[in-house]
Amino acid sequence: MSSTSTSVASYRTLVAADMAELDQVIHRRLASEVVLVNQISHYIVNAGGKRVRPMLLLLIAKALGCDSPHRHELAAVVELIHTSTLLHDDVVDESDLRRGRKTANAMFGNAASVLVGDFLYSRSFQMMVSTNRPRVMEVLADATNVIAEGEVLQLMNMHDPDISMDDYLKVIEYKTAKLFEASARLAAVLVDAPKELEEACASYGRTLGTAFQLIDDLLDYEGSTAELGKNIGDDLREGKPTLPLLVAMQRGTPEQRTLIRDAIINGEVERMPQIVEVVRATGALEATREAAQAQADQAKQCLAALPESEFKDALVQLANDSIHRSS
Ligand code: IPE
Ligand code: IPE
Ligand code: MG
Ligand code: MG
Repeated sequence: MSSTSTSVASYRTLVAADMAELDQVIHRRLASEVVLVNQISHYIVNAGGKRVRPMLLLLIAKALGCDSPHRHELAAVVELIHTSTLLHDDVVDESDLRRGRKTANAMFGNAASVLVGDFLYSRSFQMMVSTNRPRVMEVLADATNVIAEGEVLQLMNMHDPDISMDDYLKVIEYKTAKLFEASARLAAVLVDAPKELEEACASYGRTLGTAFQLIDDLLDYEGSTAELGKNIGDDLREGKPTLPLLVAMQRGTPEQRTLIRDAIINGEVERMPQIVEVVRATGALEATREAAQAQADQAKQCLAALPESEFKDALVQLANDSIHRSS
């Protein structure tokens, strides 16, 4: 099944009230007496974002019959953790476009971005404490620690054309899938779900998150800057060895392989069109999409553990949309 704008709208409508409440919690919790903190945090939050992680948490919570008010607080927590990682990530990646606007680092500088990222990160910890559940804190403490490891692992892989598929998959599992996993798991934790059900939810989140990052890496080659709201080609410019390049090197001729190896080692923008051509010609884009599809299929299988409901249907749709997205 492929996604349509109607289907996207339908599951957004399903949790519209919860998403509105989430928005209120986020705005209430951004408040700081320090002017620059308010300015930067509102700057990035008001730029929008798809809010996939809180959506995931709220849909699973609903699918499990959760009506705890803590769900909005936790949905806000995962979105703020995500937002803080974006502030840091754009400094590390030297990106200048995010959510269709100049990045916070481009507007306010690296130091301010990193520091406000720390503010949002620690604010999210203040918020999770308010749920008064040690297991919630355990899940989020573990997830944030793994995300940090993922970002460092990625840094170590930069400009290295010899990393393996497993090295690459580990980075995306750590830097991205872990927060999706935690978001899904927290919904189960909120209803004290039995262990197997919690693990099924966690696996749904992890596989969905992996699919989501694979598509992000694909869109860096075949997406549109206008639709994505961030610059395509940034990964290549930085020499980031993502799956489209790894597959193209595996399948390419010796000349093609050398072209891509050099691009990863040196970072490249000038020969971007040639590299994109090789990535296309070797079927590396399809291979990346197929890898993402396999993860999304796994995610949908995990949903067998959940009772039938319109929320479960929406989670199927979310998995489909993560593959067919262009933004
Ligand atoms: C961007 O995440 C970073 C990745 C993990 C790929 P999103 O694509 O969820 O970013 P926003 O929140 O919608 O801007
Ligand atoms: C995701 O990686 C970053 C985080 C998980 C923080 P990317 O570097 O690919 O994300 P974008 O493309 O900048 O959004
Ligand atoms: Mg980045
Ligand atoms: Mg990216």
